[in-house]
Amino acid sequence: MNVVILAAGMGKRMQSALPKVLHPLAGKPLLRHVIDTASSLSPSKLCVIYGHGGAAVPEMLAQLSGQTGAAIETALQQPQLGTGHAVMQAVPQLDESVPTLVLYGDVPLTTAASLGRLVEAAGTDKLAILTVEQANPFGLGRIVRENGSIVRIVEEKDASEAERAIREINSGIMCVPTTHLKKWLAALSNNNAQGEYYLTDIVAQAVADGVPVVSAQPSAEWEVAGVNSKVQLAELERRHQLNIATALLEKGVTLMDPARIDVRGELVCGRDVVIDVGCVFEGRVELADGVTVGPHCVLVNAKVGAGAQIKPFCHIEDAVVGDKSQIGPYARLRPGTELGEDVHVGNFVEIKNSQVAAHSKANHLAYVGDATVGSRVNIGAGTITCNYDGANKFRTVIEDDAFIGSDSQLVAPVTVGKGATLGAGTTLTKDAPAGKLTISRPKQMTVEGWSRPVKTKK
Ligand code: UD1
Ligand code: CA
Repeated sequence: MNVVILAAGMGKRMQSALPKVLHPLAGKPLLRHVIDTASSLSPSKLCVIYGHGGAAVPEMLAQLSGQTGAAIETALQQPQLGTGHAVMQAVPQLDESVPTLVLYGDVPLTTAASLGRLVEAAGTDKLAILTVEQANPFGLGRIVRENGSIVRIVEEKDASEAERAIREINSGIMCVPTTHLKKWLAALSNNNAQGEYYLTDIVAQAVADGVPVVSAQPSAEWEVAGVNSKVQLAELERRHQLNIATALLEKGVTLMDPARIDVRGELVCGRDVVIDVGCVFEGRVELADGVTVGPHCVLVNAKVGAGAQIKPFCHIEDAVVGDKSQIGPYARLRPGTELGEDVHVGNFVEIKNSQVAAHSKANHLAYVGDATVGSRVNIGAGTITCNYDGANKFRTVIEDDAFIGSDSQLVAPVTVGKGATLGAGTTLTKDAPAGKLTISRPKQMTVEGWSRPVKTKK
């Protein structure tokens, strides 16, 4: 099968410099949704028709190459003279021996199942249209039937009053035998209310040529909803998020409110996972059995081990959290953080590019960067690994059972030996030997006879 994706329209109502099809839905460009769904049908050719926005669309597609099955070809449509004219730009690239499926780059949520039914209905010799009955069909092409059979499609602006009353609309998505398609496109005229070459006019040609025209229906109206404005984009975003939330609920995940979760990527959950309100998941996030995520957390490309608790307001990115660990509230795990089992990371603790082994704790106000931390280590409040000298980064090693007193600075590269203790306020610039107390603060003294200054009277 050939797939042609129409994406040349300018999307004026988006009020944006970004081409419409590049606006993100669930963190992914609209066009990418369509490409991903099309790719799941294993087309032999995939061609995107672009126009507005200059090189932005081909640049996005170039980044995709290798990630999708079929190579993505592009064709520039300039100027944009209608949907039929758009498909004409793909003609040289179409394989005549297989049908052609036409999709819209701004209709992101059509399911592969619905497209599969459409393609099946078309077979090799029929024209199949994805249609839907709509309560408010205003602005859309109407499906005109005679004795139940589709005879043509009429656009809103060309329709008679009786035709405007028809509620079965053309989604725009259709599957067409390719040799016929080429012939019909060549015969299109722009003699209509909009002066455009309408793809929809091929339907009447099919009827005249005795090619059967059939229809298939999506499972829901939102599957064929297009994005023309930020309002419609926001509506589809909510619909998509609700679909994802429903799928999570059906798999047994507890969502405190399915209307208040945003998944912009892939969220994989084990059994008995609980997610509180306002959380955002990006990239690939895995939550193992029994994980709880408190309200208002952001997890990006993260892996959370069984029984771990993520308390409210945490930000976790490119990080691994071990089983039974407790994170937050207000913790930040940055890229390269790997926490072992039962690690406690408390409020206002930032960890970056560090391994922290089992049962270690940093419960309050600390920065741990470029560090290797052993097991059962206690990192006191206010501890900072000074990993950066303004030019280069260095590692800090803290061995098992070490105790880092509050408000210590560990000036890397430096090692705290096994079981070592650092006194509070230590600025460690040399290695701290194992099993001993190391302390760097000056001795405490009290100044006798000192008195507070008093304000001079004027
Ligand atoms: C089209 C259909 C209409 C259908 C509606 C569904 C035609 C003539 N009409 O309406 O029956 O109900 O879609 O939304 O086909 N595009 C191009 N190049 C162009 C024109 C459009 O690539 O020259 C692309 C747009 O980017 C968009 C899609 O085609 O992705 C549909 O275009 P749009 O203008 O929104 O649809 P209509 O022509 O109004
Ligand atoms: Ca449209």
